[in-house]
Amino acid sequence: MKYRAAVIGCGRIGAGYDDDPLRGYVATHVGAYSERDDIELVALCDTDRYRVHRYAEQYHVPGRFTDVVEMLAQSKPDIVSVCTPASTHRQLVEQCAEMGARAIFCEKPIATTLEDADAMVQYCQQRNVLFCIDHQRRFERFHRSCREVIFSGGIGRMQRAVCVYGGGIRNTGSHLVDFLRFCLGDVAWVWARAAVMDPVGADDPSVDGILGFQGNVVAHLIPIEISAHAIFEFSFIGTEGSIVLNSVGNNVTARYAVAEASRFSGEIRELQPAPFPVSPLASHECMRDAVTHLVHCLDGNSQPWSTGNDGREALRVVLALLESQRTQTIVTL
Ligand SMILES: NC(=O)c1ccc[n+]([C@@H]2O[C@H](COP(=O)([O-])OP(=O)(O)OC[C@H]3O[C@@H](n4cnc5c(N)ncnc54)[C@H](O)[C@@H]3O)[C@@H](O)[C@H]2O)c1
Repeated sequence: MKYRAAVIGCGRIGAGYDDDPLRGYVATHVGAYSERDDIELVALCDTDRYRVHRYAEQYHVPGRFTDVVEMLAQSKPDIVSVCTPASTHRQLVEQCAEMGARAIFCEKPIATTLEDADAMVQYCQQRNVLFCIDHQRRFERFHRSCREVIFSGGIGRMQRAVCVYGGGIRNTGSHLVDFLRFCLGDVAWVWARAAVMDPVGADDPSVDGILGFQGNVVAHLIPIEISAHAIFEFSFIGTEGSIVLNSVGNNVTARYAVAEASRFSGEIRELQPAPFPVSPLASHECMRDAVTHLVHCLDGNSQPWSTGNDGREALRVVLALLESQRTQTIVTL
């Protein structure tokens, strides 16, 4: 049986990223659905008629819509990707759940307010609709293996995490907080201070901050101007080693090191490079892996790895960081 898929929003993550010849891997919802044998991409929808037409022609998609309700009624998709700005997610997700979608794959951040996020999660739960958020590091093997190394004691007891990022705490911060939660668990408190403002997202500051996790691990957030150049780097420092992941585009790298007796001093141990279990290039499969995972969930073979509640928690932490930065206080969650 083939699942019927539709994409709402044919902008960058919906379809446009795959136009970039430099990218070299499938990075969009339309691209990932269109290449599968077990999925039929039945409809595209965007308020921009030109985009619908352009990508429907390119990917041979029969259903072409500028109105979401019409699309849902006529094309009857099983899976719908919501790839529009966050402020529109709640209405679109509720329409999809109301009109028969079995799975909704919603872009991050889940919403702009906790009220909307809670309503979306509840709406989907009540209608038994699978609701997944595209925090893509949860789907692919490279970032999942980082978590496995940490969980299996590969760097010992966690001491500190550090993340260098840019592009806004709501935008990039959604990925940042989600991946730290994935590896370190729930956040107990946050503190944020100065913010880097960037012309790329003028209404979305990148804050200097600290996340305190349940269990007392602490993560430091260091913002940079992404308009100068992109860095998205996670360092996890344990008592027996460290992992440093660079998570940007084609420049994905992992440096794994384990503590060994020093060859130069009897007083200390040093970190020596060790092989990381999975190639960084596996992260390029994130969109394909996400769609494979959706199909496994719909087939009843997996529980969702990136739930609406995970998206809601990432948003809760991001909003707490913004509140902390505004009030200059520690915010407890
Ligand atoms: N997971 C990732 O790495 C990643 C990367 C980029 C963007 N995103 C997220 O994806 C979402 C979209 O971002 P983008 O950069 O692709 O935006 P974009 O502006 O490039 O595209 C959004 C598209 O949605 C359409 N649209 C807006 N409102 C609509 C509506 N009500 N109905 C139908 N179409 C509508 C617009 O016309 C536009 O074509 C955001 O939530 C963003 O944070 C995620």
